[in-house]
Amino acid sequence: AIITASTISVPYLKPDKWDIDIQRLLIKDVLGQGAFGIVRRGWYSKENGTDIEVAIKMLRDPPTNEELKQFCQEIEIMKSVPPHPHLVSLVGCVVKEAPLLVVEYCSKGDLQSYLRSAYEKISKAAMMNIDSENNSTSVYAFNKLYDMSQEDTEDIPQHKDVLSFARQVALGMEYLASLKMIHRDLATRNVLVCDRNTIKISDFGLSRDVYYNNVYCKLGGGKLPIRWMALESLTHQVYTTQSDVWSYGVLLWEMVTLGSTPYPGVPTHELLGMLNSGYRMPQPDNCSDELYALMRSCWKEDPKSRPSFSSLRETLDGLLEGYS
Ligand code: ADE
Repeated sequence: AIITASTISVPYLKPDKWDIDIQRLLIKDVLGQGAFGIVRRGWYSKENGTDIEVAIKMLRDPPTNEELKQFCQEIEIMKSVPPHPHLVSLVGCVVKEAPLLVVEYCSKGDLQSYLRSAYEKISKAAMMNIDSENNSTSVYAFNKLYDMSQEDTEDIPQHKDVLSFARQVALGMEYLASLKMIHRDLATRNVLVCDRNTIKISDFGLSRDVYYNNVYCKLGGGKLPIRWMALESLTHQVYTTQSDVWSYGVLLWEMVTLGSTPYPGVPTHELLGMLNSGYRMPQPDNCSDELYALMRSCWKEDPKSRPSFSSLRETLDGLLEGYS
């Protein structure tokens, strides 16, 4: 079919209470970039006179018809989900001039970048004042950083922070699952960190969003987050809450390793064969036995044998009790 400018601008969205007047938005710097377009920081001047900081998601110009359709679908899904403390909340959207999705701003950015910058801080400190014979790269390397100033260690997650992040993601997923929604792309790149280390799940409105090209592999129409996918999703394109649980196990692994890419050294095309023959990622350095057991339970071959998000959250409640 010949796609003309007029077919591109077909409005998929009808104006409603979520509509924002574009004049009330002040659009600032870029927060993230991907194949779909970009996310920018900005300010929204509410009708009642208060200004709030927001994140504004916009499509690449010019978008394809398919991108426009998916984007509008994402907006509709976000409108349909009642707010929850561990899901990124919708502020509104612009439909007239260009489709814009406006969501709450999370000051510490995405969890993957947050973890990786903690890793960088630890590596730097390790180079400065820790003997190199034991250069552990796991989250628990911070144990050796007592000499660092309070300021320097502020954004280095400690074991209890990792457990708290894990619990908050489980809470958000427990809620999505209760709404019979499947995320399909649960990973630290799709989780945001707010003030006081509140964690919010993002991109639940769209399963095939593409932030980081390298981890998605083209298969059929969309790009897939192969390293986060459950066995049955890889083999039979089956997505369920229980396949989200598998991805959650991979997210736990990402957190404990401070943002490493899963299955390091394993080429994507070899992954399926390895998983099929029973291979699972080994226990990361200094990862507690309890947390590793939790990951492994998420990676059981039989989806029904994996824990529910409620049971994962309960287990984490128990593990966190030791710290309060
Ligand atoms: N990057 C992508 N979305 C974001 C948001 N809502 N807040 C902060 N950084 C982001």
